[in-house]
Amino acid sequence: MSPERLVLVGFMGSGKSTVGALVAARLGWGFRDLDAWIEERAGRSVAELFRDGEAGFRQLEAEAAREATALTRHVIAAGGGAFARPETRELLRSGPAATVWLRCGLESLLGRIPLDGSRPLAESRETMAGLLAERESSYRLADWAVDTTTAAPDDVARTIVALVFAQRARAARGATDR
Ligand code: S3P
Repeated sequence: MSPERLVLVGFMGSGKSTVGALVAARLGWGFRDLDAWIEERAGRSVAELFRDGEAGFRQLEAEAAREATALTRHVIAAGGGAFARPETRELLRSGPAATVWLRCGLESLLGRIPLDGSRPLAESRETMAGLLAERESSYRLADWAVDTTTAAPDDVARTIVALVFAQRARAARGATDR
């Protein structure tokens, strides 16, 4: 299958939004950041939504993922916890989507995420390490993984676009072989 939607998943700070916009520009596709979409729709920030309880935010996140299943020729940046929830993960994986895990080492993540209480769940080095360890088995379920620990966003974007083109070529070969 040639992907018609790319979904970037991975821990906060792994580069999903930055890389997602670059990939979309290179492919000439639209870009949707699910957290920004949720904030726009709710008229409140993710941090504010979290203050009313994580469960409510996760519900909005699942709804945003469901709406994104209607989008083709789009790159979607999912929030760091989305792919760790089975219901939301299945929505993100559904249809002509290819999912990409932006894998990033803890030290790099800690260098990019302020632990000043401004971001939900980014409380301390220990909570970040624990969450990352807990979520890794979910992130591994993505179709592709690209390491962003030291790579520049533009290089990561080029790698992802190359994966899409390779997959397209494979799909086209499959179609003519049949
Ligand atoms: C979260 C990550 C955030 C946002 C929310 C919860 C998480 O998204 O969805 O604060 O559970 O890891 P980013 O990964 O875009 O920072």
